[in-house]
Amino acid sequence: MFTENNNNILPDLSLIEDLDKNYCLQVFNPLPVAFVKGKGSYLYDTEGKKYLDLIGGIAVNSLGHGHPKLVSAIKKQAANLIHCCNYYYIPDRSALAYTLCKKSFADKAFFCNSGAEANEAAIKLARGYFHYKNEDKYEIITAKMSFHGRTLATIAATGQPKFSEPFLPSVPGFKYVEFNNFDALREAYTPKTAAVMLELIQGESGVHPANIEYIKLVRKFCSEKGILLIIDEVQTGIGRTGTLFCYEQYGITPDIVTLAKGLAGGVPIGAMLCTDEAATGFKVGDHGTTFGGNPLACSAALAVLETIKDDDLLVNVNEISEFINSKLYALQSKYPCIKDVRGKGLLIGIEFDETISASQMKLELLTKGFLVSSIGTSVIRIAPPLILKKSEAASFIKALDQILKNTVPSSSPIKNLFKGKQETTSFVPETAKTETTGEEV
Ligand SMILES: Cc1ncc(COP(=O)(O)O)c(C=O)c1O
Repeated sequence: MFTENNNNILPDLSLIEDLDKNYCLQVFNPLPVAFVKGKGSYLYDTEGKKYLDLIGGIAVNSLGHGHPKLVSAIKKQAANLIHCCNYYYIPDRSALAYTLCKKSFADKAFFCNSGAEANEAAIKLARGYFHYKNEDKYEIITAKMSFHGRTLATIAATGQPKFSEPFLPSVPGFKYVEFNNFDALREAYTPKTAAVMLELIQGESGVHPANIEYIKLVRKFCSEKGILLIIDEVQTGIGRTGTLFCYEQYGITPDIVTLAKGLAGGVPIGAMLCTDEAATGFKVGDHGTTFGGNPLACSAALAVLETIKDDDLLVNVNEISEFINSKLYALQSKYPCIKDVRGKGLLIGIEFDETISASQMKLELLTKGFLVSSIGTSVIRIAPPLILKKSEAASFIKALDQILKNTVPSSSPIKNLFKGKQETTSFVPETAKTETTGEEV
């Protein structure tokens, strides 16, 4: 069934599936497709079929696939020096910290390897900040339906009990309040509160943006109480929403911001940015990481930031976002099963009513050569590369229109065709039928 050739296993999908099922810890539920190559906003599977990548590795492949500037930076750095530990100065780490601080509110940066780690650093920093002030404050208020990562502290910070329930007891010190409800947040405050930690768009629970007024009130409240405002920009940061950082659109200055995903365009990295004041929460030796801030990841991040600037990618994000949204609103007036279109920049959620299953929609788009993610039963999320072209976006809209046209007669009562038997069996591969959760983080 398969052959090994100089230790390279030939990319045969059934073999890959077998190996995965037998040898990988089964915590994911992959779709029956494996990609072996990427170029621009496209991915190619083991059969050579081309897909428009509208999920970009879950908001990671900010420059798409195989971007020449990113590839050349990585190649050059790999040839010079891949890893060097934090016992020594690392030129690209210093340069990246400088660049991020100059482009943001921050005075200091700390680098790690993922979003969860960046949030762990932020949680520890908030606790350390009050520890060194000799104040007994450690509680962090987070939002219900938030997502902050998969480590023990970040599942405790995440306002969705399903992520922590199997792993109790939880890390203590977190309180959860309704998102976009300032009164609830004010009531949750106690003299033990150290920080408020929020996403500006709750990406993992259905692409729900925070209200501007709410965030402004939260900022003011944190300042009045002398507590820290942590903004989790792991998903929204680095151009995703049309500004380099999403907080810029809220007219506020956070105390701490966390980043990861798109920062190095696919090379694992996490970052925590903070003010000099918040930075007093860590003394030498209080926090660290072996890989964090390594030359390879930092040079990749510098190439991403440079390309976003040189190629005017923020302009592109805003133009393409406007185009997609206008087309989606037009589809919404044609197909009432589209309940809502929301998000910012190139982080967009399309919510369907109960007649459409988001995971089935995702599968039908997959068969047509479009990659999106589904969240829960009703939301399709797209987070494509920031380099997405208008013609590519238009092809997605056309495919969506075609699917909805074949599914829902626009002027007659909506039929539940996606949940019907024949319709699903005709296009859903056997192995995909078990895919029900939509959880992809
Ligand atoms: C807002 C937010 N924070 C944190 C994380 C965790 O990031 P990572 O998976 O890199 O640990 C995610 C991942 O989806 C996220 O969306």
